[in-house]
Amino acid sequence: METIKFFSGERVPLEMHKVRMVQRLNLFPIEQRAKAMEEAGFNTFLLKNRDMFMDMLTDSGVNAMSDRQYAAMMVADDSYAGSETFYRLENTLFKMFGMSKLLPAHQGRACENIISRTLVTPDSVALMNFHFTTTKAHITEMGGTVEEILSDEGLNVESDCLFKGDIDMEKLREAFHRLGRERISFVRIEAGTNLIGGQPVSMKNIREVSGFCREKGIPFVFDASLLADNLYFTKIRETEFFDVPIEEITREIGDLSDIIYFSGRKLGAARGGAILTSDDRLFDKMRELIPLFEGFLTYGGMSVREMEALAVGLEETFDFHVIEQTPIFVEALSELLQERSVPVVTPAGGLGCHIDASRFCSHIPQEKYQAGALAAAIFIASGIRTMERGTMSEQRNSDGSERLAEMELVRMVVPKRVFTLSQMKYAADRISWLFENRELIGGLSFTEEPRVLRFFFGKLKAEGDWPQKLTDKFRHDFGDSL
Ligand code: F0G
Repeated sequence: METIKFFSGERVPLEMHKVRMVQRLNLFPIEQRAKAMEEAGFNTFLLKNRDMFMDMLTDSGVNAMSDRQYAAMMVADDSYAGSETFYRLENTLFKMFGMSKLLPAHQGRACENIISRTLVTPDSVALMNFHFTTTKAHITEMGGTVEEILSDEGLNVESDCLFKGDIDMEKLREAFHRLGRERISFVRIEAGTNLIGGQPVSMKNIREVSGFCREKGIPFVFDASLLADNLYFTKIRETEFFDVPIEEITREIGDLSDIIYFSGRKLGAARGGAILTSDDRLFDKMRELIPLFEGFLTYGGMSVREMEALAVGLEETFDFHVIEQTPIFVEALSELLQERSVPVVTPAGGLGCHIDASRFCSHIPQEKYQAGALAAAIFIASGIRTMERGTMSEQRNSDGSERLAEMELVRMVVPKRVFTLSQMKYAADRISWLFENRELIGGLSFTEEPRVLRFFFGKLKAEGDWPQKLTDKFRHDFGDSL
């Protein structure tokens, strides 16, 4: 986008690809949308695709694949052991990160399971810029805890800090002095970050954290699930890297890390996961767990077709025009919403546009799930599925009390190369209508609450009849429009 200027001066997130296969969408009347939301227990995870217009829940496993990825699937080598496909994937990943050992897994959280079982002991602490839901669940399941050492600016919803995902080095040093080497299971950087709004981490910070870990002998784990977005921001926001090829940046990340893992449902735009290391001792320990939880060492629970698509998708991460597509669309959507005064996380990050539900729904108490209520209201108003990323996504404290999230966000993910600019405009239009009518939105309370990862399949009810009031106001303002 930076290199193509419009005569009009307008900044347009221009698509550097053409669409060669499409899927039909439905948009049903608001009454039907409200009914579907109620049947799904006001949890957007429980909605059915057939009931929605745009699915902005996640990019996980739903990014558009390239023609080259589909073509690669045709040459996949089916085999339980020793598949040629595995060696092709291995070759791509070794070249990419310069590491020498690969363990395949069926998705990102499977890698987290293996890593946690290898490094986490009861009462140990994993230090990280910010947790991801599944990461934390695996660590706590092994009796460890997570401590976030994010720079304070990272939790400022509105900011002009370019790398809000950075670790605060002072907090890292303080934690080391307080806990001592023995209690720290590992230090983890997630780049880009997920739960704080797709915010990037600077290479400067990755170098500093890695340097500290090497000096103290602490394993440094890098979650590269959102690396494609992070690479884009390194290229456009970190002066030193403006002219450095993407290949060199990923290679340096590999050199700085002891373990790299990722969700292949995100990085590589296919489905799968992988763990990389050059450390023989760590490799041997983790390897024992792969046949137990994933599958044989040359497929790890992935289909060989997906592995071929993943290898090509990873190579395409080196193409700037490929990795810029999501961030420039996120920026466009964020700007459309900001023009209409809707509070969003700034600066725009990767992954998706993040709406600040604590300000959008300031009239709803946090215990009544501001972000969960807003995600339900957005679906009713637009047929767009978004994801709650706030208190509902937290686990209760061990005494059963509610752990209130630092941020109440509604995430509108922009899956890679899936939606068009007119669809972004539709989304911004319906959400700005909802913002004008935000007082109508009410809270939610659980009717069924699972103990672990409750946001996935927990069910809730609306407090009062706010969904009906919202529907009535929509009809009043939009007439018979869908
Ligand atoms: N780490 C990060 C940073 C992630 O964003 C995810 C998944 C995982 C690990 C786990 O990977 O899903 O393949 O098991 N994020 C998805 C999302 C679920 O919607 O943001 P997985």
